[in-house]
Amino acid sequence: MVRRSRELNWRALLRSWDAQQESFNPDRERRFSAMFDVLEASVPKRFTALDLGSGPGSLSVRLLRRFPAARVIAVDYDPVSLQVGRSALGSFHGRLSWVDAKLGARGWSDALPRRRVDAALSTTALHWLPEADLRSLYRDLGRLLPRGGVFLDGDHLPWGPRAKGISQLVEKVRQQRFGGGQIGAEWTAWTRWWERAERIPTLRPYFDERKRRSAHHPKEVILPLEVHEDALRRAGFREVDVVWQDLSNRVLFARR
Ligand SMILES: C[S@@+](CC[C@H](N)C(=O)[O-])C[C@H]1O[C@@H](n2cnc3c(N)ncnc32)[C@H](O)[C@@H]1O
Repeated sequence: MVRRSRELNWRALLRSWDAQQESFNPDRERRFSAMFDVLEASVPKRFTALDLGSGPGSLSVRLLRRFPAARVIAVDYDPVSLQVGRSALGSFHGRLSWVDAKLGARGWSDALPRRRVDAALSTTALHWLPEADLRSLYRDLGRLLPRGGVFLDGDHLPWGPRAKGISQLVEKVRQQRFGGGQIGAEWTAWTRWWERAERIPTLRPYFDERKRRSAHHPKEVILPLEVHEDALRRAGFREVDVVWQDLSNRVLFARR
């Protein structure tokens, strides 16, 4: 009984992660669905996918529920998020593994349990990578995915300097939606989630490690869409295009 209530608390913490992420992106579930629809049309029923910058596993768990024959390898370098994910979801009946690795860093893929995967997905994560790391990550994905393998990235992928007018217009619409650019409820929800997690005694060593790695303060980069597209083509992806979008909230698709 005690064990059950403990498990429910981890699941509740994961649900509250989802709630705070949704306050930044009210279309989050629609975006996951769009990504999975495209994935379903691209890979066989039995496949292995990477979840890049998985956090506590929101994308992983949705994918595993939707595709009963799939396996997922969740990769992140934040020890707290990984531990919340492991505690809430475990190995999901042997179909989910967790990897502590820094995407884009030299040799990160050595930590993966296998050298080949069928698909790689990511949500709201890769905008943290500096350009050199992002290009290096895409080159690695070019090696990890076989010909025909797919990459799907759901993230804020803005227009570049060549489309300054559109960029400013879209930013204005985004600001209007998020209360005129004020620090809003979404940031309060984010701060509350981390404060709540930090009060959980078993997470303390993971917070210590997080501070040691400074994982909580990487510099946000937000490269424009065209940099991602160029890097993917150079990494050997033959088809690269946006398959879903709302303003700059987009799903970028690439096939090897
Ligand atoms: C906003 S969270 C999104 C988590 C999850 N994908 C979701 O949609 O809920 C961004 C995640 O990316 C991870 N991340 C950022 N840069 C990373 C890197 N270089 N290597 C591994 N993980 C990274 C962070 O640790 C964090 O867990």
